[in-house]
Amino acid sequence: MRLITRRGFGKAAAATAAVCSGMTLPEFLLAEPKPVRLAFPKGFVWGCATAAYQVEGGVAEDGRGASIWDTFSHQPGNINHGDNGDVTDDSYHRWKEDVALLKGLGTKGYRFSVAWPRIFPTGKAPLNPKGLEYYDRLVDELLKNGIAPYVTMFHWDLPEALPGGWQSRDTAYAFADYAGFVAKRLGDRVQHFMTTNEFDSFTDDGYKSGVSAPGLKLDAAGVNQVRHHAILAHGLGVQAIRAHAPAGTKVGLAEDPKLYCPVMETPEHIEAVRKAFRDNNAPFLAPILDGKYPDSYLAREGANAPKVAEGDMKAISSPLDFIGMNCYHGDYVRADDSKQGYAIEPVPTSHPHMASTWIRLSPECIYWGVRTICELWPEKVPLMYITENGTSSDDVLTADGRVEDVDRVMYLRAHLTQLHRAAEEGYPVKGYFLWSLMDNFEWSDGFSTRFGIYYVDFKSQKRTPKLSAEWYRATIAANAVE
Ligand code: NOJ
Repeated sequence: MRLITRRGFGKAAAATAAVCSGMTLPEFLLAEPKPVRLAFPKGFVWGCATAAYQVEGGVAEDGRGASIWDTFSHQPGNINHGDNGDVTDDSYHRWKEDVALLKGLGTKGYRFSVAWPRIFPTGKAPLNPKGLEYYDRLVDELLKNGIAPYVTMFHWDLPEALPGGWQSRDTAYAFADYAGFVAKRLGDRVQHFMTTNEFDSFTDDGYKSGVSAPGLKLDAAGVNQVRHHAILAHGLGVQAIRAHAPAGTKVGLAEDPKLYCPVMETPEHIEAVRKAFRDNNAPFLAPILDGKYPDSYLAREGANAPKVAEGDMKAISSPLDFIGMNCYHGDYVRADDSKQGYAIEPVPTSHPHMASTWIRLSPECIYWGVRTICELWPEKVPLMYITENGTSSDDVLTADGRVEDVDRVMYLRAHLTQLHRAAEEGYPVKGYFLWSLMDNFEWSDGFSTRFGIYYVDFKSQKRTPKLSAEWYRATIAANAVE
């Protein structure tokens, strides 16, 4: 009879496996399989992320002003199925239930954003006290449950009343006033603030392609100026938060840099990744961390380059306590003999992707993103957080109330495995915020694109944990990917 070991190995295979693992055959047959356990550093902050317009609803309540997203989402043709954020997850009323979900997962942090038009309905003082009370309650409830609030000041819901929106330099100053005010009022309990979320998503998408609010298509000079006002707002915001929050408050941002992995892990390709990273993040992260726009960007843009006033770059490059990196997808880079010294090899569109076609599987990008940022700006990046990572999935709620989102679990595990590599190699990654706690209003995709680890029935508002929620709970409990 053929010998089948308890591991299901045939005799010959077992003998080979024993040699490979440096054991004798009997030792190998008796040994327990070694489980793979990728432990994260002690104190690692596991969290979830959301944003105000995507989850709150209650857009006309308690004196909230209109945002450009209210206007944009109500214009026919802008959003899939004509959806809008009027109600979405109704977190404006169900915040306690949502904090309970976070608690149930075992999260240590919750990244949410404050809706500027709830605080200052016209974008500028006076305060709408009821708007602030909502965040007071939310912050208190989080703290009561041992969850640290990580607050984003701006996640795209710009007050409609601000003349010219991001085309106007004044908006940057209005943002700083608003951010300073929020820091003053919440800073006694909130220890981490992020100024802005994903520059290109509200500048390029809003003012270049027009797929996001306010839906404009400006020329290159106009877009570059909008981008400049956005990073100026960030810099002035950092200064305002520091001026109004207690000493020791940590200030950073949440950015989605273009991410690159080397085609091979050899010094020349790794160097090419660094070049590509700086060049292709030229309008945003590079000037924030270098204090100047890259020469190659200025040369490329020529007469369309942004108009920079005296003192702007100093404000823009205000020192940060942490960099938050949003990460979904990256491309590959190889060194070559061209003038720029590299070629970008985009992941082909035929490559396996998630429900959103723009999320083509490239989990190494989380490792290379962290590593490249830390290597390019070693003195400027004391700490990093992954402020977003997650994926859409074609989730189906079964009749017995389950959502088996194995593709999301696979995606998350692959990314966390790569993030573990970064932590293991000593890069200062302090935490990870999964996007998202629950399905929500996915901007121009509306509600049909689901990113949550809780499934939301938008009619009944019932939240149902998906398989990924179970998986994330176990990961947090173990502080490890197992
Ligand atoms: C990044 C954005 O910050 C968030 O608002 C969005 O829902 C996710 N990406 C998924 O597209």
